[in-house]
Amino acid sequence: MNFDSEKKKKKFNVYDLFRDLEKFYGILYMLLLAFLILLGSKYVKTLDYNNLFSAPGLLAADSNMRVALPVKKGQMTPPVDVIKFSTESPELIAKGKELYSTNCVSCHGETGEGNGSAGAALNPPPRNFVNPKFWKNSPSYAGMYVTLEEGIANTGMASFSNIPPEDRFALIQYLHTFNPTFPKANPDSMKALDEKYSLSTGVKAANQIPLTLAMELEILNNDTLTNDLKTIASNIASDKNDTAAAIVKSLFLNENKALYSLSSNMKWTESSQELVKFLSVDPVDKGFRASVYQISATDADRVYVYLKNMFMKNRL
Ligand code: HEC
Repeated sequence: MNFDSEKKKKKFNVYDLFRDLEKFYGILYMLLLAFLILLGSKYVKTLDYNNLFSAPGLLAADSNMRVALPVKKGQMTPPVDVIKFSTESPELIAKGKELYSTNCVSCHGETGEGNGSAGAALNPPPRNFVNPKFWKNSPSYAGMYVTLEEGIANTGMASFSNIPPEDRFALIQYLHTFNPTFPKANPDSMKALDEKYSLSTGVKAANQIPLTLAMELEILNNDTLTNDLKTIASNIASDKNDTAAAIVKSLFLNENKALYSLSSNMKWTESSQELVKFLSVDPVDKGFRASVYQISATDADRVYVYLKNMFMKNRL
C-alpha cells in the first residue's frame, strides 16, 4: 500500500530518460537543433552582404552604402588613337564580335535583343540594341564608351574598364551593326571623350585597394581616399579662419579614417543629434579623438553644419 503511493508521487527523474530511449533521443534532438539554429544565426550576422551579392544589380546600393572598389594593380594604359578606332573597319567589327560573345552575350543575347540567359532575372533588363526603348548614356560611340568605362549604377550593367580602350571601341563598332540608326562617331564628341579619359596621352592609374581593407590594414593614406574625400580633406586643411573648421580639426585623430567613416554612413547628415550619436559610438575606431564625448551642444551644431555643408558640396 505504502509502496504504491510512493510510486505515484515520484517526481521527474533524469535517469528515467535513459531508460526511455525514445524520449531521450527526442530531447537530445531538440537540444541539437537549438544549438545549430544558434550557430546559424551567429554565422548569418557575420556575413558581409556587400560581397555576398557582388553580382552587380542584385542588391541596389542605397545612399548610405559605399560599394567597395575591387583591388587593382596600377597600370599604364597606352595611348589610343581615338579617331582610328572609331572609324568603322571590318577587322575591328570582327574583333568586337568575338569580345561580345565572351563578355556580353550572356545578358544582351546573340542577336543583341537583351534576351541572354543571365539577363532574364535582371531589373532593369539588359538593353535591347535592336529595338531599344531608352538610353541612360546614349548609343553614340562616346555614350557607349562612357557606359563601358563606368557601368550603369545600380543595374546589372557593370563597368568593363578592364577591357583595353581599343577593344572597347571594337565592341562599340560591333554593337553598331545591330542597329543602323545608331549615330556614327562624331569628331567633336570623340575629342571630348579623349579629353575626359586622356585616351590619346595614355593614363597611369594608381594602385587601388578597397577603403575597407585599407582601414583594416591601417594603411589608409591620402592615395587610398576617393577623390571627393580628398577634396573635402584639402578644403578643411586650407580653412584657416573658420572656428568650426578648427573644432573639426581638433576632433580628428586620423583624418583619413574619420572622413571615410563619415562617408560610409551618411545618416549623421540628418541632424546634429544624429552626428553626436554617430561620434559617440567607437570614436577612436572611426578616426576621432575620445574628446568628442565632451563636445558641447553649440560646438556639435557648428561641426554638424560645417561637415554637412562640406559633404553636400563635394561628395559625388
Ligand atoms: C550581367 C549582365 C550584363 C552584361 C554581361 C553586360 N550588360 Fe550591358 N547592360 C545590362 C543591363 C541590365 C543594362 C540596362 C541598364 C539600364 O537600363 O540602366 C545594360 C545596358 C547596356 C548598354 C546601354 C547603356 C545606355 O546608355 O543606356 C550598353 C551600351 C551595354 N549594356 C553594353 C554592354 C556591352 C558592350 C557588354 C559586354 C562588354 C555588356 N553590356 C555586358 C546588363 C549587362
